[in-house]
Amino acid sequence: MKKISIAIDGPASSGKSTVAKILAKKYGFIYCDTGAMYRALTYAALRFDVDFEDDAGLVALLAEQPISFKAAETGQRVFIGDLEVTTEIRQPDVTNAVSIVAKQPLVRQEMVRLQQKIGEAGGVVMDGRDIGTQVLPNAEVKIFLVASVTERAERRYKENQEKGITTDFETLKKEIERRDYLDSTREVSPLVQAKDAVLLDTTGMTIESVVAAIENIVNTKE
Ligand code: C5P
Repeated sequence: MKKISIAIDGPASSGKSTVAKILAKKYGFIYCDTGAMYRALTYAALRFDVDFEDDAGLVALLAEQPISFKAAETGQRVFIGDLEVTTEIRQPDVTNAVSIVAKQPLVRQEMVRLQQKIGEAGGVVMDGRDIGTQVLPNAEVKIFLVASVTERAERRYKENQEKGITTDFETLKKEIERRDYLDSTREVSPLVQAKDAVLLDTTGMTIESVVAAIENIVNTKE
C-alpha cells in the first residue's frame, strides 16, 4: 500500500473517528484524531484555569503542556504533559467548551502546524473539520462524512451509555447542533466540504459499509 494521506472531515458524531481508526489499522497507517487535540487543550485550559477566549494564553499553555498520543488497541491514548486525559477529554464539560477554544486563530495556527508535522511523511488517516481544506490540502483521498442529526445523536447516546455517561437524548441533540453551528460559522477555517472531497451520507449505513465505501475510493487512487 502506497503511503497516501486520507483526510476525513465532517460534523460532530458523524462517525469519522470510528472509520478512520479501522482504515488506519487496515492500511498500517498513522491515525490522528485532531478533535482529540482541541479537546486536550480545552481540558488543560479548565485544569490550569486559562480563559477559553485567551488565544495567546492557550497557545502558551499548549507549549507548556504538549499534547501527545500513544497507540493503544482501542485507538489512541491522549496525554497533556505527563498526564493521561483519554477519558477526561470526552466528558461534557470539555465537549461543550471545545468549539470556543477551537475558533481562536492562534490556537488553530499552532494546531495545524502540529498536525502537518504528524502527516508530513504520508501514510496517515487524519480526521477533523479542516483536514481536507487546511491541514492536508494535497491529501490523495478526501472524504466529507455527514449523517442526520437524529442519527448522530442516537449514535452518541449509545456510545455514552456504553461508557457509563448519563445524558438526555434531546440535550445531546441540541449540543450537537450547537457545536455544528459554531464550527461551521467561525471565521477561521470553518467546517466546510473541500471542493475535491467525496461526500458520504452515512445515515442508515453500518460502520462496515462506510469503511467499504471509503476503501473503494482509496482503490481508485492506487
Ligand atoms: O472531532 P471532535 O468532535 O472530537 O472534535 C471536537 C471539536 O474540536 C469540534 O467540535 C471542533 O470545534 C474542534 N475541531 C476543529 N478542527 C478539527 C478537529 C476538531 O475545530 N480539525
